[in-house]
Amino acid sequence: MSIIARQFAHPHGLLGRVIGQGMARLNADFSRWVIQEVGEHCQGDLETIAELGPGPGVGLQEALRRFRGAQVWGIDPSPVMLAQSRKRNLADVQAGRRALVQGSVACLGEIAPLDAVVANHVLYFWHQPGDELTAIHGCLRQGGLLALGYQLKQNMPPIAQKHFPQQGHLLYESDEDLTRLPRSAGLSAVSHQVKGPPAAPQGRVALATA
Ligand SMILES: C[S@@+](CC[C@H](N)C(=O)[O-])C[C@H]1O[C@@H](n2cnc3c(N)ncnc32)[C@H](O)[C@@H]1O
Repeated sequence: MSIIARQFAHPHGLLGRVIGQGMARLNADFSRWVIQEVGEHCQGDLETIAELGPGPGVGLQEALRRFRGAQVWGIDPSPVMLAQSRKRNLADVQAGRRALVQGSVACLGEIAPLDAVVANHVLYFWHQPGDELTAIHGCLRQGGLLALGYQLKQNMPPIAQKHFPQQGHLLYESDEDLTRLPRSAGLSAVSHQVKGPPAAPQGRVALATA
């Protein structure tokens, strides 16, 4: 099971491809919902959006559909996930509306300033989350939006609750944790939205502005 926990952080090989296909299926509604929340909370038209850790690319697909005039970047360290993202939106990649980059937060500096940064189910793999959030803040334009999609530890499958921490991944037990972190990185107006019933949520998003 620790192999699976490692795969979620860095999908690779045949198993990584299978896991990517599973995420595309199981996380699709949540990925689309986060983009809708971004649309409802952002100020003005979005022209530049980056998704960190897009995995199989469903959120990128929704961002391209929802923000017709925007340039969208997907940044992921996993070549397997970049390949799935590319396949999912081949026409937009070829049209130059979407760029895929192998890397992580450090790559944002090359495309800043950004109107919005989205990262769904990625923050568990940021072992120094304060540094990552400070770097993201530095790449958002004034008033730009950060959307962090996540699931609280107690709402995760038992396997993830057990094996993610064993791999050094960080799990969070309250929305307050996800208020404190962006605030300590200088972001403000942090709010939380929950998708699904509070007792069994499909996920949550923390929204913060630069
Ligand atoms: C659990 S998957 C989530 C994929 C997708 N966002 C979703 O919700 O279905 C985590 C993704 O984040 C990527 N990732 C891991 N560490 C990252 C980092 N430091 N920066 C950007 N992406 C990262 C992984 O390669 C993987 O594609």
